[in-house]
Amino acid sequence: MSHTRAWGKPVAGSKVDLSVRIGSLMLRNPVLTASGTFGYGDEYAHVVDLRALGGVVTKTVTCEPRSGNPPTRIAETPSGMLNSIGLENVGLHRFRDEKLPRLRELQATVIASVGGETPEELATLLNALGGERGIGAFEINFSCPNVAAGGARFWAVPKRLEDTMGLLRRLTKLPLIAKLSPDVTDIRETARACEAGGADALTAVNTFVGMAIDLERVRSRLGKATGGLSGPAIKPLALARCHEAANAVRIPVIGSGGILTGRDALEFIAAGATAVQVGTATFVEAGAAPRVVSEMREWCARHGVKQLSELRGTFSAAPAQVVAPEPARP
Ligand SMILES: Cc1cc2nc3c(=O)[nH]c(=O)nc-3n(C[C@H](O)[C@H](O)[C@H](O)COP(=O)(O)O)c2cc1C
Repeated sequence: MSHTRAWGKPVAGSKVDLSVRIGSLMLRNPVLTASGTFGYGDEYAHVVDLRALGGVVTKTVTCEPRSGNPPTRIAETPSGMLNSIGLENVGLHRFRDEKLPRLRELQATVIASVGGETPEELATLLNALGGERGIGAFEINFSCPNVAAGGARFWAVPKRLEDTMGLLRRLTKLPLIAKLSPDVTDIRETARACEAGGADALTAVNTFVGMAIDLERVRSRLGKATGGLSGPAIKPLALARCHEAANAVRIPVIGSGGILTGRDALEFIAAGATAVQVGTATFVEAGAAPRVVSEMREWCARHGVKQLSELRGTFSAAPAQVVAPEPARP
């Protein structure tokens, strides 16, 4: 018996409906920019039509502006990049008064990423931003590997996640997306805790903790010992974490980690993701995210996939069997 999937007849690209739903938020397509890799969105508006994207996840904002970690904050590694930015951001007030109005003008679907050292700080951010026009959802950054307080380690405690989500849930009707760290023993536990607390969706995953050493000087190549690894180097790891998380919960999971192409994005959808985020790819090519949208559409059209739900979660662990060609008749 062959496990090779029988695809439908090719259809016109215009027949492919890429829209997806995250809680109450409808996205015109499943491609979002990953937080911290696309500024606040407005910086890219001269090269990318933000309306062509499913949405823009803005740089994580905190209650107060932050200047981040000392340099050097970026190091290239084979197939990946390490960053130790440390949540440098303009702070709540400038985000609300300068960035959001600009994103409204650009008609972007905005998912505002927020970060905090305590549940109360996150609550302050949601209270201040929850009533603002132009925010479609919040992504709660529970997974920054580069801050001393309120980072991935602090938040990787299921009970803390559940209680915090419960607190935030009461403050807004907007969808809440919990962004998870991959650096945990079992991502299913943190995923389930966020769902139990009332999250509408999860993002899996943030960067992996990594190091790069300058051997001659025996010093870190970053301004601190560790950073977060992103880019194609992490795609197989992120895919596995995303698959595990998606199988553990009923809410949608947004895949993130090493997505460069439409095929990469569709692999995450097949593994169970509802939407995806394009991050480091944007540093190589500013228009990477809209290109991923076009490539997804082309692949679906070629394979007769009219809706992403036809592909979502269809991944099977059984190896694909190679069907031997019929022997030539004498
Ligand atoms: C320079 C840089 C800054 C980032 N800043 C944030 C951030 O502020 N908030 C956040 O949730 N994730 C942040 N991330 C993580 C990305 O959003 C994304 O989850 C991760 O890089 C994996 O995706 P990728 O391999 O496609 O980049 C950052 C990543 C990079 C490379």
